[in-house]
Amino acid sequence: MSDIRCIGIGTGGGDAPGLNAVIRAATKAAIIKYGWKVIGIPDGFDGLIWPEKAFELTQKDVSGILPRGGTILGTTNRGDPFHYKTVENGKEVSRDISSQIIANAAKLGIDAIITIGGDGSQKIGYELFQRGMKIVGVPKTIDNDLSATQVTFGFDTALHTVTDAIDKIHTTAASHHRVMVVEVMGRDCGWIALEAGIAGGAHVILIPEIPFTIDHVCRYIAEREKGGKHFTIVVVAEGVKLPPELKENRRVSSIGNLIGNAIAVGSKKEVRISVLGHIQRGGTPTPFDRILATRFGVAAVDLIAAGGFGMMVALHGDSIISVDVAHAIGHLKSVDPRGELVSAARAIGIGFGDN
Ligand code: F6P
Repeated sequence: MSDIRCIGIGTGGGDAPGLNAVIRAATKAAIIKYGWKVIGIPDGFDGLIWPEKAFELTQKDVSGILPRGGTILGTTNRGDPFHYKTVENGKEVSRDISSQIIANAAKLGIDAIITIGGDGSQKIGYELFQRGMKIVGVPKTIDNDLSATQVTFGFDTALHTVTDAIDKIHTTAASHHRVMVVEVMGRDCGWIALEAGIAGGAHVILIPEIPFTIDHVCRYIAEREKGGKHFTIVVVAEGVKLPPELKENRRVSSIGNLIGNAIAVGSKKEVRISVLGHIQRGGTPTPFDRILATRFGVAAVDLIAAGGFGMMVALHGDSIISVDVAHAIGHLKSVDPRGELVSAARAIGIGFGDN
């Protein structure tokens, strides 16, 4: 028999379409299936610094949020209770306020917490678990770069957004005979660039996992010109490793601008640059993301009922499983440069700027 009566839910790190679907599913399952009380913790673990800001989540509160992007709980990607930054006597200092967080959760009557977040949030959750807090994790990131789960919710929605943007850029690129550089998210891994690039019919895809040179990209463009194709679409992941000649300007301009300007010089073609930015994190989640998020929310509640603390839900094949957070954090899922997806892209003539 579980001794849980009340759970807390918080969202941490960058938002992703589908967060509200997890909050809704976990709240409903906790109330309907187990009869628990649910408390919403605002702005990740920061919300436990001021427990008076936490609020009860009823079924009414989560009604209608399934299609909404963002998170009704708010989030931050700076809140770390083990290194909480504050200003004292005019100086920024970092303090460990984890015991205050744990005490405040207890004051609110919270028996266990679902933390919905990426690698950073799961790491904080795990450290709180090691200090006695009952935590289960739900993985999240539009970048889809967590190795413990096959897919994270938010990725599919981001792919739709980026593919739609590339489709739109295609027509104007062809009309003006231009090179169009599209910068997409993907801080450490190139999943969004690779998959949306393939789906959108990009000609060159530049990702962190495959070193490239501007020279190779320009030669690719020249080859297309020779073949009668006077426009080229280059999709660039924001986390690409820049060639040495561009490295020193990394902080001065966006990656897309740096690469686009270098291509303009090298190819002597007219180049336009689109930085898609946070558009990729917004919008209504796709049905795939809504369903995955719902399954994750329900599974997290079941995990609490089963006493699976220090664990995180994950997608494995067709099943939702639970994995040890300790083993899940810190392991990036990178694109395999020799994998099937990259090979398929190369087979249809997509260039990666490496030959
Ligand atoms: O990790 C998700 C992500 O969207 C990255 O792709 C991107 O680099 C980062 O978050 C942006 O974070 P912020 O919202 O702090 O600018």
